Amino acid sequence: MSKIFVDACKGKATPYTPVWMMRQAGRYLPEYKKVRADVGSFLNLCHNPQKAKEVTIQPLDIVGVDAAILFSDILVVPNEMGMKLRFVEGEGPKFDNPIKDQDDLQRLITGKEAADKLSYVYETIKLLKKELEKRDDDIALIGFAGAPWTVSTYMIEGQGSKTYNLSKKMIYKKPKLLHKILQKTTDVTKLYLSNQIKAGADVVQIFDSWASAIEPSKYDEFSWSYMIQIADYIKENHPDTPVILFPKSVPLFIPKVYGNFDVFGVDWSTNMAYAKKHLGDRYVLQGNMEPCRLYSKKQTTKCVEKIQKIMGSSRHIFNLGHGILPDVPVENAIHFVKECQRVSKK
Ligand code: CP3
Repeated sequence: MSKIFVDACKGKATPYTPVWMMRQAGRYLPEYKKVRADVGSFLNLCHNPQKAKEVTIQPLDIVGVDAAILFSDILVVPNEMGMKLRFVEGEGPKFDNPIKDQDDLQRLITGKEAADKLSYVYETIKLLKKELEKRDDDIALIGFAGAPWTVSTYMIEGQGSKTYNLSKKMIYKKPKLLHKILQKTTDVTKLYLSNQIKAGADVVQIFDSWASAIEPSKYDEFSWSYMIQIADYIKENHPDTPVILFPKSVPLFIPKVYGNFDVFGVDWSTNMAYAKKHLGDRYVLQGNMEPCRLYSKKQTTKCVEKIQKIMGSSRHIFNLGHGILPDVPVENAIHFVKECQRVSKK
């Protein structure tokens, strides 16, 4: 069966431009908060395929998006590489023993052994696949992983960071060690995404949320080239599965973008007309509404109309330019989705 979102990723004509939102399953939905409270914690939810399935489906029913994204987190990968992950309420993710040197690197579990430990994710995908088939509403399932650079920043800093000073110190003082960390993470991520596809994911997206922490002249070496290694592996082993890359905020890199993938995610700080000019012929573009526009229905409509005007009949998928924030009213998210579907209807 042809799914509108998969068709759009492949650049085929669709009856309207499909829409989904990064972080669409999450705390802005009271229904999500209830399930999370029932299971006790965010990580319990990631480890519980039945409940993870339930929250993946919520935005389909409540908000009306055209694709489902697997409920999990980019940090389950380093967790299964042997780095103990905790989520501290109000503070975010923490790793108690971040990577500082070669000895710490040696401790990491890598390759197939780490990828196999993520079996609860594959189980969630299998349950979702069954559920989506039963519903028969042509909704595609997106699998995902973090980009090696973004995931490595958490492994090196031990938590989120404003300055990324430990990770960036490695760029300039210990580049070989950083390359080894990135390669180990890449090796697990290739297998992890391939296993997600084997379990039933229709499309995969790689999130490079902290791309903009790297200066443009170093971006290819320390991040993009690893994302392309993963995309190449997916294209070789699953040629029919679309790959979306989302490097947040690297406008200066845009004219130099290369690689075998299908969809380029345009973040909110990048001018969509600029992205279209440089990439629109080679890739389907996804994005790029500033997520805070969602606080105002009027501003949301204005932006959706503007993006539609820029993209016209060019290949495009509506999305936010980064994740939806927890205090956005649900009705505004519904409004965004309806407006995207309305303005692009053929
Ligand atoms: O998009 C979806 O709906 C699917 C689920 C998803 C989550 N995280 C669930 C989540 C996805 C795709 C992610 C990706 C992710 N995780 C990224 C890349 C995307 C982005 O937004 O840039 C990053 C950097 C992370 C790491 C992460 N996970 C952080 C920094 C935090 C804490 C910050 C926060 O928003 O609270 C998380 C926790 C997290 N991941 C939550 C959810 C729903 C909130 C947990 C909760 O309290 O319920």
